[in-house]
Amino acid sequence: MQLNVAALVTAFAFFAIVGAEDPYRFFTWNVTYGDIYPLGVRQQGILINGQFPGPDIHSVTNDNLIINVFNSLDQPFLISWNGIQQRRNSYMDGVAGTTCPIPPGKNYTYILQVKDQIGSFYYFPSLDFHKAAGGFGGIRILSRPRIPVPFPDPAGDYTVLIGDWYKTNHTKLKALLDGGRKLPNPDGILINGRGPNNGVPLNVEQGKTYRLRISNVGLQNSLNFRIQGHKMKLVEVEGTHTLQSTYSSLDVHVGQSYSVLVTADQPAQDYYIVVSSRFTSTILTTTTILKYSNSAGPVSGPPPGGPTIQIDWSLNQARSIRTNLTASGPRPNPQGSYHYGMVNTSRTIILSSSAGQIRGKQRYGINSVSYVPADTPLKLADFFNIGGVFRIGSISPNPPGGGLFLDTPVMGADFRSFVEIVFNNPENIIQSYHLDGYSFFVVGMDGGQWSSASRKGYNLHDAIARCTVQVYPKSWSAIYVPLDNVGMWNLRSEFWARQYLGQQFYLRVYTNSNSLRDEFPIPKNARLCGRAAGRHTRPL
Ligand SMILES: *[C@@H]1O[C@H](CO)[C@@H](O)[C@H](O)[C@H]1NC(C)=O
Ligand SMILES: *[C@@H]1O[C@H](CO)[C@@H](O)[C@H](O)[C@H]1NC(C)=O
Ligand SMILES: *[C@@H]1O[C@H](CO)[C@@H](O)[C@H](O)[C@H]1NC(C)=O
Ligand SMILES: *[C@@H]1O[C@H](CO)[C@@H](O)[C@H](O)[C@H]1NC(C)=O
Ligand SMILES: *[C@@H]1O[C@H](CO)[C@@H](O)[C@H](O)[C@H]1NC(C)=O
Repeated sequence: MQLNVAALVTAFAFFAIVGAEDPYRFFTWNVTYGDIYPLGVRQQGILINGQFPGPDIHSVTNDNLIINVFNSLDQPFLISWNGIQQRRNSYMDGVAGTTCPIPPGKNYTYILQVKDQIGSFYYFPSLDFHKAAGGFGGIRILSRPRIPVPFPDPAGDYTVLIGDWYKTNHTKLKALLDGGRKLPNPDGILINGRGPNNGVPLNVEQGKTYRLRISNVGLQNSLNFRIQGHKMKLVEVEGTHTLQSTYSSLDVHVGQSYSVLVTADQPAQDYYIVVSSRFTSTILTTTTILKYSNSAGPVSGPPPGGPTIQIDWSLNQARSIRTNLTASGPRPNPQGSYHYGMVNTSRTIILSSSAGQIRGKQRYGINSVSYVPADTPLKLADFFNIGGVFRIGSISPNPPGGGLFLDTPVMGADFRSFVEIVFNNPENIIQSYHLDGYSFFVVGMDGGQWSSASRKGYNLHDAIARCTVQVYPKSWSAIYVPLDNVGMWNLRSEFWARQYLGQQFYLRVYTNSNSLRDEFPIPKNARLCGRAAGRHTRPL
């Protein structure tokens, strides 16, 4: 991170409009290829400032983050910010539907505000299959001073990025998918960029309590996280303070983030930290060490076992994860003062996943549509009124039946409507869905097909608000979303091959007001590509 006056001046010129009274933090990132050896073989990793995983972003609620990203790869690149809501500002979301790629050798300055947010998130490269090579890192948003946090300050605060990993490089994985094949099974699991037997220990002092911010940045496997001999107290999930329940292991599905507190309250020695794959026929496991500073010796005994294929165990755990209604969020008023259960939903959207072949190639879809990127980011086509890029209504709000077909699906939705979204999973694999721009209430999940009678079982009191939800095999999950953020928002599978091969669409949350209160103007520094190339972001 470095501060430079030119960048500072430019940033202010770009964004007199972002909360100018709130603090600015400046980052300069150089994205390069570099050798990494996470599973013992040399690979070309995507590094940020020479690091794999990339550097953490530390911030405080409402900070402005000015991140100047230099793309030193040989191909276009974009970073997206999982869970950062980009309020009124979907242009900065960093996905192909909102933002033009940064060409090789060029840079782009993201200007984000972590408006009214707290918690643990991560960033990742969103184009092609770059995520299989790195380019990801943790994001933490601390509460502002004077806002009460519902637990004492931990003695240490660690980012723990876990995820499955392939020895095959990202270009080859992409070529497999482009060729119509499925993604093979991963080769291993990484903890903070290290595979089995070469992990970096987490250092603790006996008697002290630590916060671990665990995110699953992998490509497909749900993972179980546990620490030998230690309990974990769950305190935060994707920006919401939780009821502080204690768990001996935790399922973290792809794309999800959890904060736990761990107290070093055991005899001083080394303990295993274990991450293992869930719902897979071959269980992949990686361990690293929880190391007491006064450790009397190495780990003893086998690493603790965890759940493997059990679905009910995971479903019950998911249902136990609730909002602490008396704890503060980003503001001093309790998170629970918003009675989402008393608001009538104006609309129900039912989304069903599907997998199939189109012209002999593997594809995935939602409500029968398999997403193909347009030649112009949808948000820019919308702004410049460029016809023929997408059609609103090109995805049905209910499963229409029938086979998969290709399109660039965009669903329209009204600003300030309050919608129910049901994810139906007719397939025999676990799914994980993420919605950009929002935090939503996970009101229910269960086995079988959802029906209106399923609403009787909804939690309308203290459901967790988060941005990524799992859907168990042959099951459904239901969410309530207050659509209070105008923009073009990506709803996607976090199972990366599915996302890449079409299991995603954009939700266009629209108002006809032109007020800056509702949406920021297109950034002056927006890169313009495709059919938006050569346009002007401001009147001449
Ligand atoms: C990025 O790193 C590469 C490799 O070290 C270097 O050649 C290049 O000059 C760097 N670019 C910037 C903008 O720092
Ligand atoms: C990936 O591997 C192939 C050969 O297996 C190689 O040609 C290509 O350069 C590699 N790409 C990267 C980004 O490492
Ligand atoms: C690229 O970086 C320079 C500073 O080195 C900055 O002035 C410029 O605004 C950046 N470009 C974009 C598009 O953000
Ligand atoms: C909820 O938050 C309050 C306020 O910080 C705290 O006192 C209480 O212990 C928390 N309750 C649970 C069950 O986590
Ligand atoms: C919700 O709908 C019910 C039944 O249509 C109605 O009685 C109630 O007043 C509505 N509540 C709100 C908050 O609009």
